[in-house]
Amino acid sequence: MAKLNFQNLTGMHDVLPEDQVYFKKVQKGVESVANYYSFEKIETPILEYAEVFQKAVGDDTDIVGKEMYTFRTKGGDLVSLRPEGTAPVMRSYLEHGMHNLPQPVKLWYIGPFFRYERPQAGRFRQFHQFGFEVIGEQNPSIDSQVIQMSYDVLKELGFKNLSIEINSIGDSECRPYFKKILSSYFKSRRSSLCPDCQRRLKENPLRILDCKEEKCQRVKAGAPQITEHLCEKCHAHFKEVLEFLDELELPFTLNPYLVRGLDYYTKTVFEIVETSEDGKSLGTLIGGGRYDNLSKMLGGRETPGCGAAAGMERIISLMKTREMKTGPKQEEPKIFLAQLGQMAKRKSMKLFEEFRDAKIPVAESFSKDSLKAQLRTANKMNIKWVLIFGQKEALEEFITLRDMETGVQKEIKLDKVVEEMKEKISKK
Ligand code: HAM
Repeated sequence: MAKLNFQNLTGMHDVLPEDQVYFKKVQKGVESVANYYSFEKIETPILEYAEVFQKAVGDDTDIVGKEMYTFRTKGGDLVSLRPEGTAPVMRSYLEHGMHNLPQPVKLWYIGPFFRYERPQAGRFRQFHQFGFEVIGEQNPSIDSQVIQMSYDVLKELGFKNLSIEINSIGDSECRPYFKKILSSYFKSRRSSLCPDCQRRLKENPLRILDCKEEKCQRVKAGAPQITEHLCEKCHAHFKEVLEFLDELELPFTLNPYLVRGLDYYTKTVFEIVETSEDGKSLGTLIGGGRYDNLSKMLGGRETPGCGAAAGMERIISLMKTREMKTGPKQEEPKIFLAQLGQMAKRKSMKLFEEFRDAKIPVAESFSKDSLKAQLRTANKMNIKWVLIFGQKEALEEFITLRDMETGVQKEIKLDKVVEEMKEKISKK
């Protein structure tokens, strides 16, 4: 029989107990910012009809074209593991008639996402994102609010040198014209592009601006800039977003080649990057933008929207290397409950619950029978007070308290033990 391979799938990883403090810290940071800005939490399923992403993110994008986990269910439905959160949130908004609620509807989410990417540092096939979406409002103040919130979360987590890269990619009025200009620029330099970009030239020349290949980057450096070709509406919208950012004193840089790799974007797109002391970009932490056409792409009525999302693994790996604070750990127990004999074990389990009701943390080792082994565990945990519940104690309804520092022991009546221990641990 072939040997079983007990390993994670490539690109998948376990979130081990020691990493939970980081996930908790990020979740708490996101939640507190979201609450402050009156965002409500939403959870959408991990599986959606593949069409949701094909229509919203775009068939010719890397995310849908190359990276989606798509399969047929036993019932014959073509479904995908969600590669991102914006399209499902919009699907949910439309499905539940959220346009009947006061607008805009402000939502946030956190959870696992899936992309079949080439594994590399910081890129996984299952990863976690948190995100914010504001649906039903096209005012530029929303764009700046989403940027401010994204910035706030990163600051709250302890990131220092942050820069906001921002661009406008126009809308269905001005973008088609710009695509033509861009296309003719790249066509005349076709042989200098990578094979993928030669294909992109036919499908969507804007995607070339997103290519990370060095040869394409060189060609990109001289390409026409969309901000020079925005229609009046998009230009005015972008100007207002930048004015808001100025007012909020957020550190932003115009990046005329930022397009982001998803089809649903219109007007504002942005990324928050971490920079070195001398201002060099060290990588993107959060990305987002406006998506005023997304609802229509999914077959809904015209509904503007704007949002952002961040990959948690990348943020957490930086928090680890910088040794950023994760906040206080769960309160360490100062009491250990040791037991000896079947009856004592049963009664200790009950006593343990009484301590839980009183919100007093207590360590235990119910699976161990030897008192010596239990005392050794208590010692390792640096616990001062050990409550010993033996046969005699169980019969006579008392418990022996041992001070591990002095070795002194005393007896406490069972119905007084929680109260007395509460007093002891509150004294220093
Ligand atoms: P995105 O840029 O595709 O945008 O993903 C957002 C973030 O998710 C990235 O900046 C990155 O940190 C993280 N991420 C993406 N792929 C991976 C991966 N394979 N492994 C680890 N982290 C990854 C979106 O998903 C849009 N839905 C953002 C948005 C929300 N726009 C508007 N609203």
